[in-house]
Amino acid sequence: MPQSDAALVCHELRRTFSTTLAVDGVDLTVPTGSLTALLGPSGCGKTTVLRMIAGLLSPDSGTIRIHDRLVTAPGVALPPERRDVGMVFQDYALFPHLSVARNVGYGLPRRPRGARRARIAEVLDLVGLGDLGHRLPTELSGGQQQRVALARALAPSPAIVLLDEPFSNLDASLRNTVREDVRRILREAETTALFVTHDQEEALSLADQVAVMDAGRVHQIADPQTLYTSPASRFVAEFVGEADVLPGTRAGRYLVDTPVGRLPTTEAVTTGNVAVVVRPEALRVRHDDQGGATVVGIAYFGHDQLVNLRMDDGRLLRARRGPRLDLERGQRVGLDVDGPVVAFPDHGPRSDDLEEAPAGDGAQLELSA
Ligand SMILES: Nc1ncnc2c1ncn2[C@@H]1O[C@H](COP(=O)(O)OP(=O)(O)OP(=O)(O)O)[C@@H](O)[C@H]1O
Ligand SMILES: [Mg+2]
Repeated sequence: MPQSDAALVCHELRRTFSTTLAVDGVDLTVPTGSLTALLGPSGCGKTTVLRMIAGLLSPDSGTIRIHDRLVTAPGVALPPERRDVGMVFQDYALFPHLSVARNVGYGLPRRPRGARRARIAEVLDLVGLGDLGHRLPTELSGGQQQRVALARALAPSPAIVLLDEPFSNLDASLRNTVREDVRRILREAETTALFVTHDQEEALSLADQVAVMDAGRVHQIADPQTLYTSPASRFVAEFVGEADVLPGTRAGRYLVDTPVGRLPTTEAVTTGNVAVVVRPEALRVRHDDQGGATVVGIAYFGHDQLVNLRMDDGRLLRARRGPRLDLERGQRVGLDVDGPVVAFPDHGPRSDDLEEAPAGDGAQLELSA
C-alpha cells in the first residue's frame, strides 16, 4: 500500500450510545507532523472520537487508519497497545504510587535496562523535568503533572499523540504558559498530535488545522485563518470567534443589503435572503447624531474595548476598538463595516426574523468556488 502523508485517517465514524447518536459520520485526516485541534461544544462527541481512535471504544461503523495501517474496520479492532498511539487524558491518569520516572517508563516496550533509562531521561529532559524523576505525582504541581503525562505518551515515540482537553485542569494563569510549553515540546519531538478542546482561542492559537465539530459531525477542517475568515457554516462562524449575524438581501452577485448598509461579500450570493456575519473588529463606529445606533455599554480590557451597540430597530451589535476611550454610553453613532463579509443562504420564512428561521440547510454555505 502506498505510504500517504497522513498519520491518521478516520472515515465515516459512527457511534451510538443507546438512544444518543454521539458521533454521526466523522471524516478526519491528520497530516504527519501536524498539530490538529478537534474543537466543539460540550457533548458534541469529541471524546468519543478520541476514544475510538485510541481503541478504547469501538465504532458502530467506519474505519480508522494510522499511518496506512487499518486499525479499526469491520472485523478489525486492534487493541490500544498495538495502535502506536499515545494518550494524554484530561485528568492525566498518572499512577499515584509510581515515581515520575516509572510513570514515564510504563508504556515503554521491553528494552535493555540502560536503553530504557536513557529514553526516560531523554523525554523527561524534553518536558523540562529532568531533575524530578524520583518524585511521586502528588509531589508535583498541576502543570508538572501534565508534563509527566505528556512525557509518558511521547516515550514510545508513537505515530500520533491524542490529548483530551489537556489544559482544562489548569488555572487560567498557568494555562497560557503550559499551552506554549506543550506546543514547543510536541514540535521538538516532531510528533503528530490531535488535541480536543472546546476553547476556540486555544484551538486557533495552537493548531495547524482545526476540525470544528457539532452534534456528532465535523462541519469544517481548515487552518485557523481560513476557519475564521471563510467559515463553512453559520455554526462555525458563530462558534469560532465573536460574530453578530444580520439579515440581508441580495443586491448583486457579490453584494448584500443589510441594516448597516450595502456590503461586499467574500463569495457569490446565491439566494435572495442571506444571513450576514459581522465580526466585532470589522464594525467601525463613528460619532453621528443621525447615525441610527446608540452605545449601550463598553467593556474596557486595556489592549482593546468591546462596545455594545443597539440599532434603532432593536438589534444588538458589538464593535471591538483600540484602547482610546472616545465613546460613552448613550451616545448616538453611525456604523460601517470594513471589508467583505461572509453571507450564508438563509431560506427562512422572513429575512428579518433570523431567530425563528429553521437551522437546517439554511445554515450551510453553498460555496460557489
Ligand atoms: N458511555 C456513554 N454512555 C452513554 N452516553 C454517552 C457515553 N459517552 C458519551 N455519551 C454521550 O455521547 C455524547 C458525546 O459525548 P462526548 O463525551 O464524546 O462529548 P464531548 O464533546 O467530549 O463533550 P465534553 O466537551 O463535555 O467533554 C454526549 O451526549 C454524551 O452524553
Ligand atoms: Mg470530552
